[in-house]
Amino acid sequence: MAERIIGEASSGRRMFDMRLERSAPDLWPMLDRLYGDHPAYPAMRDALLAEMQKAWKARPAALKELDLKRDLQPDWFQSPEMVGYVFYIDRFAGDLNAVHDKLDYLESLGVTYVHLMPCLKPRPGNNDGGYSVMDYRAVNPAYGTMADLERLASALRERGMTLCVDLVLNHTAKEHDWAKRARKGDPAYRDYYLMFDDDTLPRAYEEHLVEIFPDDAPGSFTYYDDIGKWVWTTFNEHQWDLNWANPQVFLEIARIMMFLVNKGVNVLRLDAVAFMWKRMGTRCQSEPEVHMILRALRAVTRIVAASALHLEEAIVGPAEMLTYFGRGEHDGREGNLAYHNNLMVQFWSALATRDTGLMTHVLRTHFPEHLTNATYATYIRCHDDIGWAVTDEDAGALGFSGYDHRAFLSDFYEGSFPGTFARGALFQVNEETGDKRISGTFASLAGVQKAQELSNPEMLDDAINRILMGNALIASFGGIPLIYMGDEIAMTNDYGYTDDPEHAHDSRWIHRPVMDWASTQSDPDTPAGRVLAGTRHIYARRKAVHAIHGIHPIRVLNAPGRAVFAFQRLAPAGTLLCLFNFSEEWQELSEDWLKANGVVELYDQLSDAPIETRNRRFALPPYGRVWLT
Ligand code: GLC
Ligand code: GLC
Repeated sequence: MAERIIGEASSGRRMFDMRLERSAPDLWPMLDRLYGDHPAYPAMRDALLAEMQKAWKARPAALKELDLKRDLQPDWFQSPEMVGYVFYIDRFAGDLNAVHDKLDYLESLGVTYVHLMPCLKPRPGNNDGGYSVMDYRAVNPAYGTMADLERLASALRERGMTLCVDLVLNHTAKEHDWAKRARKGDPAYRDYYLMFDDDTLPRAYEEHLVEIFPDDAPGSFTYYDDIGKWVWTTFNEHQWDLNWANPQVFLEIARIMMFLVNKGVNVLRLDAVAFMWKRMGTRCQSEPEVHMILRALRAVTRIVAASALHLEEAIVGPAEMLTYFGRGEHDGREGNLAYHNNLMVQFWSALATRDTGLMTHVLRTHFPEHLTNATYATYIRCHDDIGWAVTDEDAGALGFSGYDHRAFLSDFYEGSFPGTFARGALFQVNEETGDKRISGTFASLAGVQKAQELSNPEMLDDAINRILMGNALIASFGGIPLIYMGDEIAMTNDYGYTDDPEHAHDSRWIHRPVMDWASTQSDPDTPAGRVLAGTRHIYARRKAVHAIHGIHPIRVLNAPGRAVFAFQRLAPAGTLLCLFNFSEEWQELSEDWLKANGVVELYDQLSDAPIETRNRRFALPPYGRVWLT
C-alpha cells in the first residue's frame, strides 16, 4: 500500500505539481519580464503549462526513476566519477547502432558521459558540421533514426552513462519548416526570424557586431532577392537566427527540449547561446535577456525532467563566461555546466611561453573558488577552433600587449613561429582586427607531429608529456573533463579535408578525423599506446581521489617559479595540491612551500606513490604533474 502511494506520488500529477512549485520562481517571473508586453504572451503561457503537463505524463517510467535518483543525489554531475568523451557518430563508429559496440572501449577509458556531436537532421550539403538543423525531431538519416537514438540512450543509461546531445537554439537551417513558411510569406513565421525590408537597420547593427566567420561568411545579414528581405545570419548564410523576442519561439524550443529529454537525452548542449538576444548599439552577445531565457528554459527542463542538465556553450572572455553559471540574481539557477574555454586558452598560452603568469592571473582574478549548483566542462581540444580569448586588460596587467600576445599565439600554433613545437592551421583570419584563430589536433598542437616529422625522440617525449599534463589538469580542476575523440591515441592533423568540397573552406576539419581504431591496439611504447595508457591512468586516479569532487573550492596559487601552475582543491578531509610544470626544465619547490599549502603526507595521488625530496626540495620534471596530499 505504502509503496503504491509513494509510487503514485513520484510519478503522478502530485509530483508534477511539486516540481512546478519548486521551479516556478525561475520560470514565470522570467517570462513576464521577457514577454509581458507581447500580445501573444498570455496564450503562450497557457500553452507552455499544458505542454509541460503533457510531457510529464508522457515521460517514460525509467526516466522518472532516474529523475528521482538524481534528485536524491543532486551533486551527481560534479562527482569525480564523471569523465566525458565527445565524438562524431559517423567518424567514431559509422552510425548510431554501431556505437553500441564501442561502449566497452569507452568504459575502458573510464568514460561515464558521452557527447554525440550534432545528430539531429541537418540541411543537405554543407551544414556546418551538423549545426544547421532542419528538423529537431528527426535524427540525421545518415546516423539512423530517433528510435535508434532512444535505444542508445537506454543502453547508456543501463551502464550508468550520461548522454549529451547538441541543441542549436540560436538559429535553424534556412530549410527548416519554420524558415520555409517564413520565406513563403506567412507572417506568424516571419516573426520567428529577424527580417528587414532594407539595409538601414542591418547596417546600424553591423557597426557593433563581431564577425564570426569573416573569411567565408562575412557580415551578419544576408539579402534574399526572392523575398526582398535581409535576414539575420550571424554564422553562415544557411543558418537563420531565431527571434527570441517572440514568445512563440520560446514555446517551440521548449517543446523540442521536452521531446528530446523524453527520448532519454540527459544533457542538452545549448549551442552558441551568447547570440540569442539582439540589442542595437551592442555586440549582441550575452545581453541580460539571454540569461533570463536560459534560466526559464532550465526551469522547463527541471520541471519535466529533473535529471536532465543544460550545458551552455558561450566561448567568451573570463568575466562574461561566468555569467552562464548564473551570477547575481540568477545564481545557481541557470546553466549547470559551461565550457571553461579560458582554462583551455590559458593552457595553450602557458605552454607556448613556458610562463604561467597570465594563466594564474586570469584564473585567480576572474573566477570564484566556488560555483553554486554548477560546474565547468573542462577540455583542452574540441571540434571548434581556438580563439585567443585573452583580453588587453589581462595582458596589460602582466605588462604586455594583448594584441601582440594573441598574434604570437597564432603564429606559434600555426607552426610559423621560430622554434615552435606545434603544427596547426589558421582559421578565419580577420584582416580588420588582426584576429587569427587556430585549428589542429591536441597531438599536433602539442608537438607530436613535428617530433615525428623530425624523428626526434626527445621532442616526442616532451609532446607526450604535454598531452598527459593537459589531461591531468582538466581531470583535477573540478567539473567534467571532456576527452575529444582521437586525442587519447594522439591522432595528428588530418589534411584530407581539403579534398572534400563541403569541408575545404573550414580548417576545423583538420581536427575532426576518422577514428583510428587500429591505434587503440598499439604497442605500449608507441605514441598512441603511451598516451592511451596515460589517459586511462589519469581518469582512473581521478575517480579514486574524492577531493576532486566539483563541490570543493578551487584556489589558484601564485606558485614559485614562472613555469609552474598550482591550485588547491580545498576538501574538508584534506587539501589536494595540484602542480603542473609548463616547461622542459626541471622545477624545484621547497618542502616548506608545499607544507604551507596544505601538503601533509608528501604523497602524489596521481602516480599513487610518495614523492621524494632532496635537501627538503622537491623537483618536478619537465611537463611533470602531481596531485599532492
Ligand atoms: C557553435 C559550434 C560551432 C558552430 C557554431 C554555429 O559554436 O560549436 O561548431 O559553427 O556554433 O552553430
Ligand atoms: C565563435 C563563437 C562560438 C563558435 C565559434 C565557432 O567563437 O563565439 O560560439 O563556436 O565561433 O568557430
